[in-house]
Amino acid sequence: MRDPKRLIILASGSGSNAEAIMQYFQQSEDVIIGHVITNKKNAGVLARAAKFGINADHVPPKEIDDFLLSLHKANRVDAIILAGFLRKISQRLLMVFPHHILNIHPSLLPKFGGKGMYGKHVHQAVKDAQETQTGITIHVVNAEYDKGKILHQATLAISSSDDSESIGSKVLKLEHFHYPRVISQWLSGLKPPV
Ligand code: GAR
Repeated sequence: MRDPKRLIILASGSGSNAEAIMQYFQQSEDVIIGHVITNKKNAGVLARAAKFGINADHVPPKEIDDFLLSLHKANRVDAIILAGFLRKISQRLLMVFPHHILNIHPSLLPKFGGKGMYGKHVHQAVKDAQETQTGITIHVVNAEYDKGKILHQATLAISSSDDSESIGSKVLKLEHFHYPRVISQWLSGLKPPV
């Protein structure tokens, strides 16, 4: 009998990436989504988790660390997956999960990353810069915004008729395909956190 890896998803919004991940691992014997946590009341991700029968809670930002660490104490958490989570990860969490937190960013980092660069702001900046391509970056989280080790990038072409909204929806599709697969591969080589 294999010991499945237990993930916690943190999301702030609609949760379409969280849903792609829940869907991908729904039948998995190797990976369990233990809990979904959001810092936003009524975030769309709560209803998406309910569809999959996964426990989900809105937790005020200041209480997220304690909440997560108590889940970890009760039942080991192997990794934390940020799926559109728009708050900085604390030093306290990084100490317990030093290389065990993944993030997805909707551009080809290091381009269009850093504080304030999230969601539609990224796509608008890409459009304003008249880029001919954009993409996604999946990276390990460290103490600096969008600066951790890059595990995977995927690109897509932008045409002159694209606006920030159409860029955003193409980026989301790419994210939904790649994020669960990269998580799966990354987890297979991941040692337990301390
Ligand atoms: C995604 O595009 C994700 O890459 C982005 O927020 C969106 C969340 O969508 N994250 C960031 O910008 C982080 N800096 P979702 O809630 O539908 O998954």
